[in-house]
Amino acid sequence: MRERRLRRDAIPRHVAVIMDGNGRWAQARGLSRAEGHHAGLESVRAVVRSAHELGIRILTLYAFSSENWSRPKAEVDAVMDLLDRYIDEEVDEVHRNGIQIRTMGQLADVPRRTRQKLDEAVARTAGNDQMVLCFAFSYGARQEIVDAARELAQQVEEGKLRASDIDEKLVSAHLYQPDLPDPDLLIRTGAETRVSNFLLWQIAYSELHFCDVMWPAFRKEDLVNAILDYQARERRFGLTSAQVRSGCPEDA
Ligand code: IPE
Ligand code: IPE
Ligand code: MG
Repeated sequence: MRERRLRRDAIPRHVAVIMDGNGRWAQARGLSRAEGHHAGLESVRAVVRSAHELGIRILTLYAFSSENWSRPKAEVDAVMDLLDRYIDEEVDEVHRNGIQIRTMGQLADVPRRTRQKLDEAVARTAGNDQMVLCFAFSYGARQEIVDAARELAQQVEEGKLRASDIDEKLVSAHLYQPDLPDPDLLIRTGAETRVSNFLLWQIAYSELHFCDVMWPAFRKEDLVNAILDYQARERRFGLTSAQVRSGCPEDA
């Protein structure tokens, strides 16, 4: 029996997930990697529903990295098909639940049909305000930072900005989803303890939760466990524990 109980008043606002382990889950069952991705789609459906029920405000899912383009073409095609399928089958329900879909990544590299579906889903759900569901697709955090640096350099070149005006806030404002707050909790499934080029800037002070469950087996209970782990942490942001507890940095 689990002793800790979920505190509804301390649900992380923004949860980001590295959905890893589809291939290993499939191989352990004698299935193809594509079948593993297919099974992983069920987890996406389940976790989006669960996140909404739990009151998570922003859910960012790492679905395909810049580096994943180097996988065998058949596997890449299978992932693109699944994204198409997710949009075709889920957007009605997502929309009914007031969820806003967003994307982050180099979508110019994504096949046109998939890109159009994504764009339509984003446009259709743009007015929703119950939850943000952001798909990091063809996404790489280093590229995101490079893109921000280029935009800022361009403004300096055009004389619209001085180099000395560039600060953390301005860099944040040039990332792919500048209005989203940083993740409070980053979950990685699939028993690996690395971040694989995901949200490098934004996770500076996120709590990290690594779990051994392969993504296709991940369900609400595992999400709840991650949140319980999060709720047991003390987020200090560089302060001392005494400062955090008193709620006042001067009280050190
Ligand atoms: C994550 O599962 C999904 C994608 C990267 C598209 P993997 O496909 O990386 O599964 P493993 O890590 O090989 O088991
Ligand atoms: C990270 O998983 C990317 C996604 C889950 C989309 P990978 O399987 O690509 O990461 P590595 O290669 O194990 O670092
Ligand atoms: Mg993997």
